[in-house]
Amino acid sequence: MKRAILRKLKRNRLINGARRVLYATSYFNRKYFEILKWGFESKEDTNYTYELKEGNIRYLAQLIAAVTGEPYSVVLGYIQEAQNDKEVEDHVLDAIKRSPYTAFADFRTGFAKRLGWYALVRILKPQVVVETGIDKGLGAVLLCAGLLKNRAEGFEGEYYGTDINPEAGYLLTGKYKEVGSILFGDSIKSLQSFDKQIDLFINDSDHSATYEYNEYLTVKPILSSNAVILGDNSHVTDKLSQFAIENSRDFVFFKEEPKDHWYPGGGIGICYTKDSFRKV
Ligand SMILES: C[S@@+](CC[C@H](N)C(=O)[O-])C[C@H]1O[C@@H](n2cnc3c(N)ncnc32)[C@H](O)[C@@H]1O
Repeated sequence: MKRAILRKLKRNRLINGARRVLYATSYFNRKYFEILKWGFESKEDTNYTYELKEGNIRYLAQLIAAVTGEPYSVVLGYIQEAQNDKEVEDHVLDAIKRSPYTAFADFRTGFAKRLGWYALVRILKPQVVVETGIDKGLGAVLLCAGLLKNRAEGFEGEYYGTDINPEAGYLLTGKYKEVGSILFGDSIKSLQSFDKQIDLFINDSDHSATYEYNEYLTVKPILSSNAVILGDNSHVTDKLSQFAIENSRDFVFFKEEPKDHWYPGGGIGICYTKDSFRKV
């Protein structure tokens, strides 16, 4: 009887339409609450900071373990090393407080996907890391923290960040600056005159598809033979995936799931070769 009534109601296009719309909105209602909260609590206008959901951190560690061949526990250990690094956290919060941008910043690290960048620095032990587009330097400082940990284990490495904004990189100070430098100006111009082989390249500057692809073409001749490329734009374009196919490389994508934030999340495109993580 109940089923028969339901079937009858479902045949009415208006009632059925309203029922389906209501069901679909249940997937988004929480987002509106988060947008409202963010609108009045956060001070950020761009390059949002947030934590990742706990399960999403596990996905990240599992994906990096599958790509690199490192045990899951080792990868998770590196991620936790970054999460528990009180020195880097204090450094970031203090630098934000002292900067002229406090009015537009939230007092948290919110490294999110950059935890994956960090784990890859710890696994790869790269000699040269390049990140295009450093903004305030959140990725820069974490990557340099990883390089300093590598150095303490006997593996030297240096970081170069690019940015077109002459005020970028205010977090990259103190001991993190010992292994990190900023190349100011247009990324592609800086990369054209870059005279070192790159082991880990991170694209995060101009997010247009053409510019992103041109960055990959520009660094191609100066990548070390098994270099790893990370794309911060792979949730928006397929340019790194295209570059991987054109150059007989592998490609995987990790999708962020921000915790308590409306932003749908970015991700990490990982472009690598079969030998990128081979132990010598
Ligand atoms: C999304 S932010 C980078 C975020 C940073 N990687 C992090 O971990 O927080 C993008 C940055 O790229 C810079 N940028 C945009 N176009 C650029 C270009 N053509 N050359 C160099 N930097 C550029 C912007 O000034 C901005 O600071």
